[in-house]
Amino acid sequence: PALTQDELKAQVGLAALDYVVKGEIVGVGTGSTVNKFIDALATLKTQIRGAVSSSVASTERLQALGIPVFDSNEVEELAVYIDGADEIDGRGYMIKGGGAALTREKIVAAQSRRFVCIADSSKLVNTLGAFPLPVEVIPMATQRVIRQFARLGGQAQVRRKDGAPLVTDNGQHIVDVTGLRITDPLGFETEVNQWPGVITVGVFARQRASVCLLGTSSGVRTMR
Ligand code: A5P
Repeated sequence: PALTQDELKAQVGLAALDYVVKGEIVGVGTGSTVNKFIDALATLKTQIRGAVSSSVASTERLQALGIPVFDSNEVEELAVYIDGADEIDGRGYMIKGGGAALTREKIVAAQSRRFVCIADSSKLVNTLGAFPLPVEVIPMATQRVIRQFARLGGQAQVRRKDGAPLVTDNGQHIVDVTGLRITDPLGFETEVNQWPGVITVGVFARQRASVCLLGTSSGVRTMR
């Protein structure tokens, strides 16, 4: 029988253990796929020094399993960062931020030598943009950022939670942008990053995946 999406996530979460470097601190992302990885990581916890985490949610899960969590500033370089994605293309470019953790994810990815992306096969796309692009913004700039996306043909709206704008771990807002076809992820990321009030755009081009472990019903496919 075909594997469920949950089983595909568990499969790649487990496969990612092969990339964890013993005796070191591992960078840990956010989301339901990473949660499977964190659960698997607990079996190796005596063999690693700990983790640097990209969200309050992942920190809590790591600590609950007895894995020490270090602040990003305490560690200069990480061997590997393991995280999911909302979309990934064949070159390792991604859209991330569905879980609103994109800024911290990009920071930990940037301090890591390798980014190992774990995803079920539904995340693989030819062109980024079908998934609404998350952008973290300073609330004061929201309406201007929304108008700038409209000029690029995108429709942006503020992400809400429980009837109010969602507030990120960093105390900021997220806009989600639909209607974009991101054919030049590097150029797009560079441009949007310059807009005043934009903290982080959810296109990961500079911090692209070095390896992607893709969960399929016929097993884990490794894309480099
Ligand atoms: C979190 O902000 C995102 O970047 C996640 O990496 C992404 O949403 C993947 O989450 P799932 O593993 O739950 O699909």
